[in-house]
Amino acid sequence: MSATRGRIVLLEGIHQAADSALSAAGLEVDRLDGAVEKERLHEVLAGASMVGIRSRTQLDAEVLGRLDELIAIGCFCIGTNQVALEAAAGRGVAVFNAPFSNTRSVAELTMAEIIMLMRRIPQRSSAMHAGRWLKSVDGSREVRGRTLGIVGYGHIGSQLSILAEGLGMRVVYHDIVEKLPLGNATSLPDLGSVLEQSDVVSLHVPATAMTAGLLGARELQAMKPGAFLINNARGNIVDLEALGEAIDSGRLAGAAIDVFPSEPRSGNATFESPLQGKENVLLTPHIGGSTLEAQSAIAREVGNKLARYGREGATGTAVNLPGVDLPARKDNQHRILHFHKNVPGVLGRMHSALAGLGVNINAEYLQSQGDLSYVILDVDPVDPRVIDNELMKIPETIRFRTIVD
Ligand code: NAI
Repeated sequence: MSATRGRIVLLEGIHQAADSALSAAGLEVDRLDGAVEKERLHEVLAGASMVGIRSRTQLDAEVLGRLDELIAIGCFCIGTNQVALEAAAGRGVAVFNAPFSNTRSVAELTMAEIIMLMRRIPQRSSAMHAGRWLKSVDGSREVRGRTLGIVGYGHIGSQLSILAEGLGMRVVYHDIVEKLPLGNATSLPDLGSVLEQSDVVSLHVPATAMTAGLLGARELQAMKPGAFLINNARGNIVDLEALGEAIDSGRLAGAAIDVFPSEPRSGNATFESPLQGKENVLLTPHIGGSTLEAQSAIAREVGNKLARYGREGATGTAVNLPGVDLPARKDNQHRILHFHKNVPGVLGRMHSALAGLGVNINAEYLQSQGDLSYVILDVDPVDPRVIDNELMKIPETIRFRTIVD
């Protein structure tokens, strides 16, 4: 099964910034603006070696089972729940995503919200829409000199830290992993210390068992009176009923929320939340990472990962496969990419097969994960059809391809 080239089908209007890397890797790019319903996917993707999707295309085990030639899936977004990851791994199909390309967009929105909340803009804007002229200095603060508490000092949290310090804020943060503080930020030992010290608390943790309900009534009570809360991370981290009560009682001065426990699947569906109608709460429809810049950065990031996988077989950034990266292949060598069952003896059989053909192995790297092993071999040039025949005879083989040009 030799393959160096192929066709990639990009669904759901993926940004054109993906194309140059894919074309340079020898892939023919076909694109469709919308998602395709499950029943038609195998038709649309027939013969494609790669597919690019966003969040609406569902690639379940049944669909994958009908796409024999597929070697890689690019999720041009952060989430990968729409793909049956284990089923893909079991078929030696690599899945890539773009975890960090919208980091800056989320950090910028958060910074803007901090300023808007501290100047009491949401309530003043809605008053004007209702015909009232609320010109007053009441409660309006500069952000300079105020303390921002960041919970989760990862990609977004640390980027926000830099922006906030640039505007003169004092930054404290808490992360369960030790993180290098940027600028003058101060790491605090626990969530409680962040809540106690901060004028505004911004959450940037992932959705995990530990972060579900991280901010409930007790934690909200532990915040400084008159502080603000921002959640642009995941919907189940904050108890919104409790937040609504803290806002109504005046304990908290306001909030900005971009993510919700249950979010409408489309623009036609109705949205409901206990925070509706509260003037000092900014509500946004999960658009923290939604900017044109992020879309194009995502397209470049995933496009590059797919192109590199096509050209070199690199799985270091795949979300579902053992990570194997070898330096770029030398021109005078062929590269064999081989997925097999993780059982003893397979590598030995591959070595014997190649030795039997008089083929020298110049580089080799293997990684295993669960039931699956992935090995990359750089070998002296040899007719790929001959190698294909030999590898096909190894019963534990799941999928392989040979890159020759
Ligand atoms: P990241 O993985 O780079 O950083 C998360 C940080 O949180 C890590 O440093 C981790 O150690 C820390 N952490 C995990 N559990 C913790 C806990 N219990 N207490 C304190 N720290 C903890 O993630 P990134 O890229 O910064 O994203 C952060 C969040 O933002 C994620 O939930 C992500 O889904 C969300 N997000 C939301 C977007 C939106 O449109 N609103 C767009 C992009 C990301």
